[in-house]
Amino acid sequence: MEKPLGICIGEPTTREVEFVSSKRVQLGDYVEIEHENGRVLAFVREIKRVNRTFAEDLEPDEAEKLKRLTGSSSFFRGKLSLLGNPDRRMEIPRVPPEPGTYIYPASAETLKKVFGRDDGTKIHLGHLLTRPDIDVFIDVDSIVSRHLAVLAVTGGGKSNTVSVILEELLRKNGTVLVFDMHGEYVNFDLQVNGKPAVNSINLTLNPLKLSYHEFRLFANVDDSAYIQDRYLRKAFKEAVEGYRRGDYEADEFWGVLLGMLRSWTDPEAFPEYKEDRKSITGVINKVEDMQELYAELFDLHQSTIVEQIEFGRLNVIDLSHVDERIADIVVSHVLRNVLEARKKFVREREGGLPFPLLTVLEEAHILASSTINTKSRYWISRIAREGRKFGLGLCLVTQRPKALDSNALSQANNMIILRLVEPGDQRHVQQASESLSSDLVEQLPSLNVGEALVMGTMIPVPALVKVKLARAKRSGNDISAVREWQSFKKDKEKTMKELDDYLGF
Ligand SMILES: Nc1ncnc2c1ncn2[C@@H]1O[C@H](COP(=O)(O)OP(=O)(O)O)[C@@H](O)[C@H]1O
Ligand SMILES: [Mg+2]
Repeated sequence: MEKPLGICIGEPTTREVEFVSSKRVQLGDYVEIEHENGRVLAFVREIKRVNRTFAEDLEPDEAEKLKRLTGSSSFFRGKLSLLGNPDRRMEIPRVPPEPGTYIYPASAETLKKVFGRDDGTKIHLGHLLTRPDIDVFIDVDSIVSRHLAVLAVTGGGKSNTVSVILEELLRKNGTVLVFDMHGEYVNFDLQVNGKPAVNSINLTLNPLKLSYHEFRLFANVDDSAYIQDRYLRKAFKEAVEGYRRGDYEADEFWGVLLGMLRSWTDPEAFPEYKEDRKSITGVINKVEDMQELYAELFDLHQSTIVEQIEFGRLNVIDLSHVDERIADIVVSHVLRNVLEARKKFVREREGGLPFPLLTVLEEAHILASSTINTKSRYWISRIAREGRKFGLGLCLVTQRPKALDSNALSQANNMIILRLVEPGDQRHVQQASESLSSDLVEQLPSLNVGEALVMGTMIPVPALVKVKLARAKRSGNDISAVREWQSFKKDKEKTMKELDDYLGF
């Protein structure tokens, strides 16, 4: 018979039980409690070391049991969250355990039953922090339909965690779209089915396929400049309609647009626009500026970005060379289009995007800011709300949870929280997630790199996990100054030596 670890004390509820133990117990450990219908799994959510004298407030029979278990002069006292009965689909018992009930260390068999099953839809993330023998799997369907937030300080292991998930997803024919803010994923060195996984998507936009709203942002016409707005809208709509009717070739778009605007400044041809000539000239200047400024971004023959997304691959849009304003327009344009494309396919069963998609947004606090009303924020929250009906998932990654739109964050039903130091960030995360106890939040600063609190619908019960190291190399890891100095010195010495040899010294 295995030896008990400790006993329940105090006034247990069906959710929470106080316990004492003479053996070493760690935060995040799992224990089993004897209960009416078999054993219940529980999670150590709070633990402190106390002196034996504390035993004075125990009931006599509790103290008696404890005496039998205890050999040392101090023991552990803490709180357990009851997680449920592993043999009954984690059902939580309706009756609290009795005080005095023994608790046992959770068996490997039980933990494997809970965390270690891959029924085909799960991927391997790492192992339990306190139990390296127990592998942890997370559910892919849940990530795609209920979204995921990956939060940590810089260097906490966010990108590695995302890489692990992407690698495993790709092995399951998963299709992913990454908005690569730092150019980290473009060189993701992974083969799937004998082919490089990365499909690098051309960051060029076709002005003919932009919405008027997006076009206006590039033209830098403010919506308060309503006269300019009116003429630009009219010219853009007529130019796009003309193209669709086949009136002219794609290459002629700018000429058609500007020609139309210029013609409106002719008082004889358009006396009704006479008063607005100044504004129309302003629009012409802005369109000319836009054409010059974004010459490399615009391509009148480009298919839409959605058409470039390939099934079973890591589709990457490299945004490392554009500023935040452009990144915002690009991201919102793409998100709007993937949402529409998925809706179309799901409703009509043809056209659109014929497979589910996970989109990954690094630096999510810039795109979905809690303070700045970005265009992307609107589409991120639309997808956060509607995505699950259309198989469109969001993975939001940020080192500044506090600056992330709380709406988007609270729609992420899954969270992987690595090291988080700032109290403001911790509070923000806690507010967004009902199930995050303040004791666990207090642990977040002491997590090491790659150690994470994993919770949400993707995992049967919350867990502290050591995330494994991704196999594929990303670029954008920290530069080692010392190594680079050394190799620079070596190169320099080599050159000097060659020079000396040549000169015959
Ligand atoms: N799970 C892990 N196990 C071991 N080392 C890790 C782990 N996660 C990250 N690291 C190390 O920490 C460094 C920073 O991780 P990264 O994922 O780039 O952090 P972040 O994206 O949060 O800034 C990586 O280069 C890697 O060496
Ligand atoms: Mg990173």
